[in-house]
Amino acid sequence: MVVSDAHVPVLLDAVLAGLAMRPDGHYVDATFGRGGHSAAMIERLNSQGRLLALDRDPEAVGAARQRYADDNRITVTKASFSLLAQAVETAGMMGQVHGVLIDLGVSSPQLDNPERGFSFTHDGPLDMRMDPGADEPVSEWLMRAEEAEIKRLLRDYGEETHAGRIARAIARAREQQPITRTHELADIISAAVPKRFHEPGRHPATKTFQALRIFINGELDELRAVLPQTLDVLAAGGRLVIISFHSLEDRIVKRFLREASRGDPYPIDLPVPADALQPQLKLVGGVHRPTPAEVDENPRARSAVLRVAERCAA
Ligand SMILES: C[S@@+](CC[C@H](N)C(=O)[O-])C[C@H]1O[C@@H](n2cnc3c(N)ncnc32)[C@H](O)[C@@H]1O
Repeated sequence: MVVSDAHVPVLLDAVLAGLAMRPDGHYVDATFGRGGHSAAMIERLNSQGRLLALDRDPEAVGAARQRYADDNRITVTKASFSLLAQAVETAGMMGQVHGVLIDLGVSSPQLDNPERGFSFTHDGPLDMRMDPGADEPVSEWLMRAEEAEIKRLLRDYGEETHAGRIARAIARAREQQPITRTHELADIISAAVPKRFHEPGRHPATKTFQALRIFINGELDELRAVLPQTLDVLAAGGRLVIISFHSLEDRIVKRFLREASRGDPYPIDLPVPADALQPQLKLVGGVHRPTPAEVDENPRARSAVLRVAERCAA
């Protein structure tokens, strides 16, 4: 099977509008992927401009290093974005960043390569780690997790209404033999969910795979960790652009932006002069979603939600 190494960047025009780039600015792409957004950002930089590209996936980092080996405006770092501040400090850009882009989720090359184990449509090892050097693959976790833990995870991270049935089926199946392949797990789920609940055009394993991926990669903790760090790395007037792909992520982003744009909390009974409230961020524009034409062209953009904020002066 030939696996494409391309990723079509989502909401590219809105990302560029949100970043409002200056040619000599310093930027961070915290989720390089295959560099769709980075390439457009780099095009807008002059010889003074700089881009720090991060990804936790060694294949994404390899692609970035190869592509930009001869471009000294670009620094590529293999890191989780929960280490954003450290990476920016090392790159000598602390407090001087004019824009941070965080495009959450997985890239097309990750999803489409059966060997990475993200997909129930192609059979492969049941892995799902964005960084295959980190922690354990899903197959190992599924062998040792309590049935109740699996059920809770499917409900909390997948909003799966059949979480109990699926967790029970997994627990039974693994008594016979370890579940090591994506197709084995997909088949167990298909058999566990009664046919009358199968939705047309949607594999019954969709939510379970999403939940396991979010869990095994600590995706929500990563997001909670990076958001406050963006306040430290951005210069006054610097932009934060975030694309999320499901309600669990967007809820965290929305709450952070709301709190940071509201200013310091004061005791409710204390009179506070208006200029003492110091918001750290200003919201820019509303929520952006892809147009039907973009979704037609790039179905993976379907659930994307983009939000923009600007760092206020300290
Ligand atoms: C949706 S893709 C980004 C696509 C990219 N904007 C492009 O146009 O090619 C998300 C990327 O972020 C990476 N990623 C996800 N969570 C991460 C994290 N916590 N730290 C670093 N990289 C992460 C994934 O490995 C993946 O390559």
